[in-house]
Amino acid sequence: MDKFVITGGNRLTGEVKISGAKNAAVAIIPAVALSDGICRIENIPNITDVTKMSEILREMGAKVKLVNRSTLEIDPTTIGTCVAPYELARGLRGSYYFMGALLGKFKHAVVAMPGGCDLGVRPIDQHLKGFMALGAAYTLDGGMVDVQAAQLKGAHIYLDMVTVGATMNIMLAAAKAEGTTVIENAAKEPHVVDLANFLNTMGADIHGAGTDVIKVHGVSKLKGVTYSIIPDQIEAGTYMAAVAAAGGDVVIQNVIPKHLESITAKLLEMGVTIEEYDDAVRVISDGKLNKCNIKTMPHPGFPTDMQPQIAAALTTANGTSMITESVFDNRFRYVEELKRFGAQISVDGKLAVIQGVDHLTAAPVKANDLRAGAAMIIAALCARGTSQIDEIQHIERGYENVVEKFAAIGADIRRASAENAAVKVG
Ligand code: EPU
Repeated sequence: MDKFVITGGNRLTGEVKISGAKNAAVAIIPAVALSDGICRIENIPNITDVTKMSEILREMGAKVKLVNRSTLEIDPTTIGTCVAPYELARGLRGSYYFMGALLGKFKHAVVAMPGGCDLGVRPIDQHLKGFMALGAAYTLDGGMVDVQAAQLKGAHIYLDMVTVGATMNIMLAAAKAEGTTVIENAAKEPHVVDLANFLNTMGADIHGAGTDVIKVHGVSKLKGVTYSIIPDQIEAGTYMAAVAAAGGDVVIQNVIPKHLESITAKLLEMGVTIEEYDDAVRVISDGKLNKCNIKTMPHPGFPTDMQPQIAAALTTANGTSMITESVFDNRFRYVEELKRFGAQISVDGKLAVIQGVDHLTAAPVKANDLRAGAAMIIAALCARGTSQIDEIQHIERGYENVVEKFAAIGADIRRASAENAAVKVG
């Protein structure tokens, strides 16, 4: 398996263009199954999670064509089965959106229990509760969830916790149900709004996405459309954190600054200068950061998907920072890897205490999961010497051309085969 080899110490300067949002793309691709015509989806990120979602659709009979680097054309009218291929589906989290989409299309979906990053227990009970409220029943057999309904009927659903996945899955199932579905305590993330906008462009009747009450008035038909996915909030935040930590002056293009507010607020507190433009942010930092306390929360709070990257930046901040993870049970597994760089971090349950050190020292480390991998890149960019990062397949699930993008803003980063990487580290 290839590795990333990174020599730290370079200032980052120039421009980087952000790709389409992973967590919107992995919902919008299955949502196309609900359409009665061909859809063109633009601003699709070129990442392995998206490739797998497209492959699932293709194996189910859809015609999926890459029109150009970032545009997919999908003809869902030839989908001939309600069963998502097991091996592909169990390899990623987003495959659970096939449950809602296929249930909406066929009143029947058979989909593997989802995979994805190991962040502690990640149940799907709220998804299933929503489907049942709409009139479906489910069984679990051989790792597959089999959910079906004689008829889907709008219902009032109160989610026990704020969950992005269940909110979007219920929207998918309800879009073509009979009558009105009300989702209370809904997630408000930008990709929830993006999915609602996509469904509405196809002819759905969804109101309130972006607030905590979403109303879905079921419609009988959805038409083929062209739609452009929003920019990736977390990819943008990752580059912002990297510039903050390594020092430099970078314009991050193709972003929606409003989606970055919670990240911007914390970076300002850390002493970083941020200028906002219509669809760009400029980040200027001398690499000397102030301590900062952070608590992850559902949107518009600080996103859990930025927690490891910001922790990496805080390892060399002036003073002691506290990070509280309140979304997932176990999102501090990367801390052991950060310690290999000389970071001083102690974890007690959902709290990490980071004592800023003078500098990090290069080390061989691994990406435990997607955002943990991004944190390793940031630490390596700051560390003295040459680091290598293993298990980069996790990073490539969610970051398009990460080596090329960092190299273009001045990072000393390359992808190397295991043999070529080994000799030079340290
Ligand atoms: N939860 C339940 N029951 C459910 C659903 C969720 O208990 O039925 C709990 C989860 O265990 C978690 C909390 O509710 O403690 C929130 O989970 P949520 O459903 O919001 O997360 P998710 O759908 O599993 C998506 C993203 C994650 C992102 C979270 C939070 C996708 C494919 N994944 O996960 O993305 O962290 O929302 O914003 O969209 C990532 O991109 O790195 C990533 C992990």
